[in-house]
Amino acid sequence: MAALPSLDPELERRLVQVLEQARQQGFLGPGAAMDHVEHALDLAQRIQNISPARALDLGSGGGVPGLILLSAFPHLTMVLLDAQQRRSTFLRHAVTELGFDGRVEVVAARAEEAGRRPGLRGSFDVVVARSFGPPATTAECAAPFLRVGGHLFVSEPPGGPERWPVDGLAELGLVLEHLHGGPQGNFHYAQFQARMACGDRFPRRDGVPAKRPLFSTP
Ligand SMILES: C[S@@+](CC[C@H](N)C(=O)[O-])C[C@H]1O[C@@H](n2cnc3c(N)ncnc32)[C@H](O)[C@@H]1O
Repeated sequence: MAALPSLDPELERRLVQVLEQARQQGFLGPGAAMDHVEHALDLAQRIQNISPARALDLGSGGGVPGLILLSAFPHLTMVLLDAQQRRSTFLRHAVTELGFDGRVEVVAARAEEAGRRPGLRGSFDVVVARSFGPPATTAECAAPFLRVGGHLFVSEPPGGPERWPVDGLAELGLVLEHLHGGPQGNFHYAQFQARMACGDRFPRRDGVPAKRPLFSTP
């Protein structure tokens, strides 16, 4: 895996500052802000060979991993999607603070609705998701955004492919390509590819992907 060029130190300083603000508002999980940056930079390394032009962060919250990917890839454009108005307002502020206006659209909407919008559906090279939900919910909410051939990266606890049954993924047009991290790794990601356009019946109505998951996970 080729090393990523390191972040510009001034941008890194502002990124950490923004993530600290996210923490104060309750939008960031436990751990030092820099740990969240490193987690997302590990993802950036795994994405860099794909050279995405357009990516979507599903359930961006306080901006992880989206804001870090924008910092690592200066030519990337992104949609940061979150259902919560307060988080979306924070994300707009963060985008301006970091000088990413013009490269980013913050969409305050549920994935179940946004995944049916023209201009968003079937249009992303990469979708990333960290702590969005259980596997089936994440897959169903993410798949409609991918163009055919696009990739989904989901931050995962360590584990095997049994979390992602082949038949359940196939309903969404997805195949599991790779589990990154291995037993010794610090960070774990599952990588999928959209081999076919996601079927029209997905995503189902608001809340249904979580209430009636397409597949169960052991
Ligand atoms: C646990 S947070 C994770 C935030 C961030 N990705 C991180 O790792 O720090 C999950 C986020 O997903 C958003 N979310 C949950 N379900 C959603 C849905 N159906 N559509 C859009 N956003 C959703 C929540 O509002 C929340 O901000």
